[in-house]
Amino acid sequence: MKTSAIIVAAGSGRRLGHDLPKAFVTLGGHPMLYYPLRALAAVKDVSEAVIALPAGTQSAARSLIESTGLDIPVKLTPGGAERQDSVRIALELVSAESDVVIVHDAARPFATADLFAACIRAAYAAGAAIAAIAVTDTLKQVDENAIVATARRAGLYRAQTPQAFRRELLVRAHREAVRNEIAATDDAELVERLGERVEIVEGSPLNFKITTSDDLALAQALIASHLPT
Ligand code: CTP
Ligand code: MG
Repeated sequence: MKTSAIIVAAGSGRRLGHDLPKAFVTLGGHPMLYYPLRALAAVKDVSEAVIALPAGTQSAARSLIESTGLDIPVKLTPGGAERQDSVRIALELVSAESDVVIVHDAARPFATADLFAACIRAAYAAGAAIAAIAVTDTLKQVDENAIVATARRAGLYRAQTPQAFRRELLVRAHREAVRNEIAATDDAELVERLGERVEIVEGSPLNFKITTSDDLALAQALIASHLPT
């Protein structure tokens, strides 16, 4: 059984609005990309990683990898125009001997090694599994600043990463997406479109995605608080 990891870190971070690409913005004294690599270093039985990076950041990424103690082979590649392109490009570099691939956003620095391991286990058992959390707020459909409907909250989850899949399934999902010109914001959707079952693994509210400067401020505060993240 061979498991590969893909970290997508190639986004520019337009909404964060920083000079550096988002994965290299400093958080708690480290570039953001440090955190998922450190988590990955603590996951047993992952045999390789592929990281999709912004242009011109490969040598910075190499030194960062060294500082995390991640001691598996790591391939680096420039990403694509959209997240989905970055995953597809990285997936082409994953070993053909790999059984399961786990995909994670560099922009989620608080994903734990346990969460990676749980998604990997579930993907071996069920074919596909993603971290997600149940929606706790009431959801409103809004148009021009006024509510037009209240959504049924029951059964609604917020998808996170990591997301783990049998490699063959993820390859097929991305191939079909290219063929049918499907754009999705996560890999699970592409697998769902194949009619395949994708299971849920309990994620964490702490595993939020850093999108805006408010998210970054919250992440800085969490790290400064020494809360176990
Ligand atoms: N990502 C990627 N390649 C892209 C776009 C995004 O690898 N072309 C990665 C990001 O680096 C991030 C993850 O996908 O780790 C989630 O994307 P998002 O939070 O949207 O990051 P950005 O695209 O960088 O941010 P923005 O949309 O604000 O520009
Ligand atoms: Mg984006």
